[in-house]
Amino acid sequence: MRHLISPMDLSVKEIESLLDLAGSIIDHPAAFAHKCEGKQLATLFFEPSTRTRLSFESAMLGLGGQVLGFSSASSSSTAKGETVSDTIRVVSSYADIIAMRHPKDGAAAAAARVSRCPIINAGDGGHHHPTQTLTDLLTIRRLKGRLDHLTIGLCGDLKFGRTVHSLIKAMCRYEGVRFILVSPQELRLPDHDLQALREGGFDFVEDPSLENTIGEMDVLYMTRIQGERFADKAEYERLKDSYILDMAKMALAKRDMIVLHPLPRVNEIAVEVDEDPRAKYFDQVLFGKYVRMALILKLLGLNDPHFTEETVPGPLEGAQTVPGLHCCNDRCITVAEPTQKSLFRTVDGHHVCAYCDHAAN
Ligand code: NCD
Repeated sequence: MRHLISPMDLSVKEIESLLDLAGSIIDHPAAFAHKCEGKQLATLFFEPSTRTRLSFESAMLGLGGQVLGFSSASSSSTAKGETVSDTIRVVSSYADIIAMRHPKDGAAAAAARVSRCPIINAGDGGHHHPTQTLTDLLTIRRLKGRLDHLTIGLCGDLKFGRTVHSLIKAMCRYEGVRFILVSPQELRLPDHDLQALREGGFDFVEDPSLENTIGEMDVLYMTRIQGERFADKAEYERLKDSYILDMAKMALAKRDMIVLHPLPRVNEIAVEVDEDPRAKYFDQVLFGKYVRMALILKLLGLNDPHFTEETVPGPLEGAQTVPGLHCCNDRCITVAEPTQKSLFRTVDGHHVCAYCDHAAN
């Protein structure tokens, strides 16, 4: 049984075959309209969402399957104090596949550990959002014609933005990709991600100025400052309008640059930019539905000649308990739910939490 918890749970070949299949669905939707008949997708959204949840539901309905689930933690047994693991044990007895979103880092990995059916991570805290990444990859490949040899600017909240963390991980696997990381000092990419970029020898620069760097970018990935993840609301108020993409800045960009945004937009892209042909964030939404259709087919094992199947280690595979060791990320599911079994991996001689990738103490 395969899950999708982080973008690295799929090989590059598998991602390519998924993107190819999404292309076939775009071209011939009727040919896929009955593929999931008799199958049920549960969407468990412990954290609010509009497009991701509806995108999954629309994807499953478009394949002829059915959907069930909840759209907020307050309408589930979480409100009574149930753990994620117990909710998943129960729901995976009803559904054939689960898409879940949870405010805690690592919650999807915790779910995969006990689930009877495939788990799709639709966002775990500030950690990962792999189906947004598949959406981004499909959008970039269709609009730029390739995923390699691109300069990608990521701007905004690089600390808490899970879409950014997943996109960087995925794009590192393509040749000639350069990252320009544009953020305020307080919202820089987490240390473990920066270290991974350094150690992997990847080409990246950090620069707090969008004006200075926009001219070099082939893709500009704008993000929302993630207010809900700030411990200090005054800091959010101070940082929330750090970057506003407007036509004055667009005038400094390449004529064929594309602007993406996982949405929802708050203030970071002025509405005047929507009219610019380089603004592609609303096209991106539609690609998200098709790539989720392809993913559901793959994880349900409704195999198509398109699919490449590779042996990729599962989300917690190879992780171990270490007596006395705990994760020190207070946003991690193992901290929020101490009954979760702490598991660690060794990276360069240090223990990191296998759920959320943070250093252990
Ligand atoms: C993103 C998310 O939830 O991480 N939205 C989405 O899934 N489309 C981005 C965000 O909330 O800022």
